[in-house]
Amino acid sequence: MPPRTVFSCSACGHESPKWHGRCPGCGDWNTLVEEKPQKRSASSRTARRGAPVRLADVQAPAIARFSTGIGELDRVLGGGVVPGSVVLIGGSPGIGKSTLTASALGNLAAERKVLYITGEESPAQVKLRAERLGPAALEVPIVAETDLDSVVATIEAEQPDVCVIDSVQTLYAPDLTGAPGSVGQVREVAARLMRVAKERGVATVLVGHVTKEGALAGPRVLEHLVDCVLQFEGERERTYRTLRALKNRFGSTNEVGVFEMRNDGLAEVADASARFVAEATRAPGSVVLAAMEGTRPLLVEVQALVAPTELVPPRRVANGVDRNRLALILAVLSRHGGLALGASDVFVSLAGGVRVDEPGADLAIALALASAAKGMPLGAERPLAAFGEIGLTGELRAVAHHERRVTEAEKFGLAPVLAPGDAGTLRQALARALSPSAQMAA
Ligand SMILES: Nc1ncnc2c1ncn2[C@@H]1O[C@H](COP(=O)(O)OP(=O)(O)OP(=O)(O)O)[C@@H](O)[C@H]1O
Ligand SMILES: [Mg+2]
Repeated sequence: MPPRTVFSCSACGHESPKWHGRCPGCGDWNTLVEEKPQKRSASSRTARRGAPVRLADVQAPAIARFSTGIGELDRVLGGGVVPGSVVLIGGSPGIGKSTLTASALGNLAAERKVLYITGEESPAQVKLRAERLGPAALEVPIVAETDLDSVVATIEAEQPDVCVIDSVQTLYAPDLTGAPGSVGQVREVAARLMRVAKERGVATVLVGHVTKEGALAGPRVLEHLVDCVLQFEGERERTYRTLRALKNRFGSTNEVGVFEMRNDGLAEVADASARFVAEATRAPGSVVLAAMEGTRPLLVEVQALVAPTELVPPRRVANGVDRNRLALILAVLSRHGGLALGASDVFVSLAGGVRVDEPGADLAIALALASAAKGMPLGAERPLAAFGEIGLTGELRAVAHHERRVTEAEKFGLAPVLAPGDAGTLRQALARALSPSAQMAA
């Protein structure tokens, strides 16, 4: 009997024997693609009985992580690359995935055996980039190959400690019919590379593309398969890029690394707060947010612009903060802060292309909006620093790491900090920040 084809969803991996316009699994439209079913091993062989071992008796050598020489990357990985682990690093085109992985391999090459497999660029192109990155990056051995069998054979023969595959969507398994990058192919490629990684202890970094919506292209199953998923974010035209872990089997997912794209590659921004504070101005609509990025406090300028609208409904533009969060803050400002902006266009942006997704940003956003609407600068000689969550009833709520945020702001001369505790409600916080006497005292 010829193998029947299956249709699988490129969004959720759901398999169905026939085509549907809408995936029965996740409800997305036009996501089902045809593929050859995967070969299943014959069930006739006799199964081996597993022998349970008490966890305490399991032999587990202490894992020595490899440092990539890039402090920010090591931190996001949880302290360096774990031997035999599989890391998926995703990001939009041109964000710097190849640059980051190439410089990490360059640093590792001094002490470890490394291998760079490129399916996307020719060795000459990769060399051009490496020349920009410096002499270490030029030491990395490279193979240009897209055939999965050949890639696996190369890895098995070379036995590198760390191997980068750029990108997982360009490799293809010749025994599957789908085009490179299709669900079936990506899944097969990842599964085979995973097997090699675990069997040979090769730490493997898979570079992956993201779709327009920002999700990793290919099935979600890829994210379940790998040990660690890193997301490289930022806007191409902005300088700052952030690297965060969406999943990490060997460390926390709270850590964020900040990078800056320079002529000679990605430079780590170890003290991002200093940069952002130096750039902050004491203009109406500007407030410094004392945010937490993982375990690290980060000071970042929130800017707001409020202008009379010509549109119905008015514009609500949010850069670096969640749009829904902005809508909520506007609603609370109008209901409990006496500041109705229903007839104004509102723009909120975090300086430097940073993104903050924590409720602690609420108060700084609200203050920036109030300052912009009233045309009043906040703070005395220095910009005002603030943080805190705003509740639906207009109350200010405490957020985690109060002390660390305040200390960070004080370190940069931004005291006093307006935070929950100084004011119980949004209305009180607005009164404090906007009253002339408070500005004198501050
Ligand atoms: N000479 C240069 N000076 C400064 N920045 C540069 C220079 N050349 C390239 N870049 C930056 O490097 C980025 C490309 O980096 P890289 O190739 O690592 O991205 P990528 O994420 O691998 O992209 P792709 O998705 O195409 O593989 C460019 O968008 C640009 O910002
Ligand atoms: Mg690339």
